[in-house]
Amino acid sequence: MLPRFRADPADPTEGCAGDTPVWLEIGFGGAEHLVGQAVANPDVRLIGCEPFLEGVVKALDGIEAAALRNVRIHDEDVRPLLDQLPDACIDRVFILFPDPWPKTRHHKRRIVSDTTLDSLARVMRPGAMLRIATDHMGYGRWILFHVLRHPAFRWTADSVRDWLDVPPDHVTTRYQSKLLAGSTPLFLAFDRCQTGGAREEG
Ligand SMILES: C[S@@+](CC[C@H](N)C(=O)[O-])C[C@H]1O[C@@H](n2cnc3c(N)ncnc32)[C@H](O)[C@@H]1O
Repeated sequence: MLPRFRADPADPTEGCAGDTPVWLEIGFGGAEHLVGQAVANPDVRLIGCEPFLEGVVKALDGIEAAALRNVRIHDEDVRPLLDQLPDACIDRVFILFPDPWPKTRHHKRRIVSDTTLDSLARVMRPGAMLRIATDHMGYGRWILFHVLRHPAFRWTADSVRDWLDVPPDHVTTRYQSKLLAGSTPLFLAFDRCQTGGAREEG
């Protein structure tokens, strides 16, 4: 099934109307959220990225079981995909429970980085939403530090409930369902601003 459902980076709405909203999930793991959002939003094109083969198989199982036609899979690292997507083509981005890489010497492996944010700023439409969830407070602080200093993004939270409450449209992921009782994940939502591009270097 994979060749049939593999994403075409140059044509993210391939197979649907050109004005179809496109949502991107980075690191979909077991594909619970990807498949759940695709079922709930049949008029949206979902592109899921996951290099882990077992996750890709789960996504294809979900696509087959629900007879989905609105999902495409990128079965590799998201970063080359981001480089190939057209400007301003993505309406929502989900990064749910990314690997926290807690050791300082591994922080450079974190998917939320200045470079990834520059790429997201280019491919996201003005007004598009970026949702990042984490249960790791150190990574939560890192995410806020990097996104808030980026000129293309604005944190949409007005109150503590906006980042502690699970968003009503969220679909629980496998990683999230394994969290220890008492650990509170953060759901951080940002807007792609109308202005602002890549950061100034330096
Ligand atoms: C901790 S798991 C969370 C999976 C899923 N989002 C969940 O909540 O159950 C992080 C996932 O991100 C994927 N990942 C890591 N780096 C990635 C990258 N550069 N591009 C795409 N996916 C990546 C991993 O393979 C892994 O499945």
